[in-house]
Amino acid sequence: MNTDPTARAARAHSNIALIKYWGKRDSALNLPAVGSISITLDALYTETRCAWTNAGSDSATLNGESTSVERISRFLDLIRERAGISQRAEIVSHNNFPTGAGLASSASGFAALALAGTRAAGLEMSTRELSILARQGSGSAARSVYGGFAEMQHGKRVDGGDAYAVELLGADEWPLEIVVAITTRKQKTIDSTTGMTDTATRSDFFEAWVSHADSDLDAAREAINKRDFHALGALSERSCLKMHGLMLSTGDGLIYWTPATVAAIHEVRRLRAEGMPVYFTIDAGPQVKALCAPGWGNVVAERLGAVPGVETTQLTGLGPAARIVE
Ligand code: PMV
Repeated sequence: MNTDPTARAARAHSNIALIKYWGKRDSALNLPAVGSISITLDALYTETRCAWTNAGSDSATLNGESTSVERISRFLDLIRERAGISQRAEIVSHNNFPTGAGLASSASGFAALALAGTRAAGLEMSTRELSILARQGSGSAARSVYGGFAEMQHGKRVDGGDAYAVELLGADEWPLEIVVAITTRKQKTIDSTTGMTDTATRSDFFEAWVSHADSDLDAAREAINKRDFHALGALSERSCLKMHGLMLSTGDGLIYWTPATVAAIHEVRRLRAEGMPVYFTIDAGPQVKALCAPGWGNVVAERLGAVPGVETTQLTGLGPAARIVE
């Protein structure tokens, strides 16, 4: 039972984009240059407790170790401003999966912090407002406020008031399975914000990426509405490869893949050639996520687990929306 009225804990699940976000139209407000469509993952989540205190500064721990509060404090300022408070926060957070390794820990992390922090400050925000707030911590966090399938809209307004995510389908409306193949637990060397900011100025292909994004989103939305697995899988693989093409063409090349990443890509394609309904997607990191039609996750996990360089695999279904747990 929660006995402290100024503390709340929230759980938010990580998500992976099927149609990718890469690039910002405004860095200060963290407004995306393109929309994106994601699925929220049941097995990967962050649980964060926020307590507003009379301490002299914000403090934060992640998995029991104290962590830098610079980015967190900037985010907490948004909550302080909105709630009209000046107290500092004590944040205690746990990820049940590797942090900063391309498994969307910033998505689940900022969605959980947005929910716990606002509720602890006495604010009752709508899901849309929460999505707008979470976006300012991390673009992908705007989607982790929802379960199932979510779409992040790039919006047009300069104040970002229309740059929020919406739910497309609930988790049980199309129970896809996802196999996460972990190829390394090391933190990535270039974070998404640095990478995507670089891409906007140092890739010759950035304008083409932005100009094709809306048609990819339309096609994916249609595939989701029709529950057309092969259409959605093919669009997801293509969006992933286009994003990594963009990364490769940035400056002297932003390469997140390892040999094991490439081996897992080929294995997914081999499985498909054998008749299995499976497609891959990869974020700003070396892990490969395999999107499987309902019922195919176990066999895909076994095959990807046998790929040289794949350390472990984890099978998950689609997860729920962010929620208060204490
Ligand atoms: O929200 P960020 O800044 O962590 O960026 C996410 C970027 C990708 O994961 C590569 C793509 C996406 O849409 O989630």
